[in-house]
Amino acid sequence: MATVLDSIRNTDAARPERLRDKHGRAITDLRISVTDRCNYKCVYCRTGNEGAVYAELPIEDYLRIARVFVGLGIEKIRLTGGEPLLRKGLADLVRELSQLRTLDSTPLDLALTTNGHLLEELAEPLRDAGLSRITVSMDAVVADKFARITRVPGSYERVIKGVRAAKAAGLAPVKVNCVLLRGFNEDQIVPFAQFSREEGVIVRFIEFMPLEEDRLWTPESVVSLTEIVKALGSFRPIERMAPNTASETAVRYTFDDGVGEIGIIAPVTQAFCGHCSRVRLTSDGKIRTCLFSQSDHDLYGVMQRGGTDEEMARFIRSTVEQKEARHHIGEPGFLKPSRSMVHIGG
Ligand code: 5AD
Repeated sequence: MATVLDSIRNTDAARPERLRDKHGRAITDLRISVTDRCNYKCVYCRTGNEGAVYAELPIEDYLRIARVFVGLGIEKIRLTGGEPLLRKGLADLVRELSQLRTLDSTPLDLALTTNGHLLEELAEPLRDAGLSRITVSMDAVVADKFARITRVPGSYERVIKGVRAAKAAGLAPVKVNCVLLRGFNEDQIVPFAQFSREEGVIVRFIEFMPLEEDRLWTPESVVSLTEIVKALGSFRPIERMAPNTASETAVRYTFDDGVGEIGIIAPVTQAFCGHCSRVRLTSDGKIRTCLFSQSDHDLYGVMQRGGTDEEMARFIRSTVEQKEARHHIGEPGFLKPSRSMVHIGG
């Protein structure tokens, strides 16, 4: 039975106003990059050139920023990089974040995206620290092709062990992200379908976006959702699954026997900007309101100048308000974002 207290709790007036942009989208999802270092040089992301400048904040600064965001209605935090497992103090950050509560007093949905290279050792400590879910990036299920993409010998063997360790640690369901790139791995669609069915992981194919340091991207390099669906269907009849949430980015499928789950994330051919709920913090403490933003917003600058939590909150609110309506991939005049993926954070 509803009590008087419930009715007070349920009025918006009793709570701080939640983050919303000027297009009316509620912003509930924060991605924090905890380092822009990476131990892989995936062909669709980094040039592999040496001499890059890296920037990280102290763990307690990410924590303070996260607290302020959560006070503004963030419900989900995903830790990214670079490669987040390279970051010293990561488990401490996860432990502290897992103690935070949303404005509805529920635990945060706390997830992490990793290349899996160090996951075999870290799956259990991260689970113990309070991580809820994990996504591992894998772009092939064949060792030599995998290593050709990551440009690190022996990477496949390590990542497979990492995926299995995550499952064994109970970080389920483990998701596997695969970026499809024509000429590299479009032949991996059916092998990944089999992998999902055999390993009990959710495989998600992502259309290639122009975010890389090398200029590989062309419209033709994108393996589209339509093409992926066709390839899956030639393997076994597929069935559409209902979305988990309103802001779900993946179109979900299973097979006729209900075994396996495949998501397709199609930012290029079926953009989902209209229900985007995300905002990003780069490893150097800048807010990015879109992967394709032309500039960053220096939240850390506000903090370093002695800004209070309230001043930081005000800066976040006014930045989020300006979130772009949508990206313009593939349109004439499209400008590449001001940073590449490794410096933005997936
Ligand atoms: N296009 C699409 N996905 C990308 N990722 C990295 N770069 C790109 C790109 N250019 C993916 C990674 C990882 C996630 C964080 O983003 O493979 O799974």
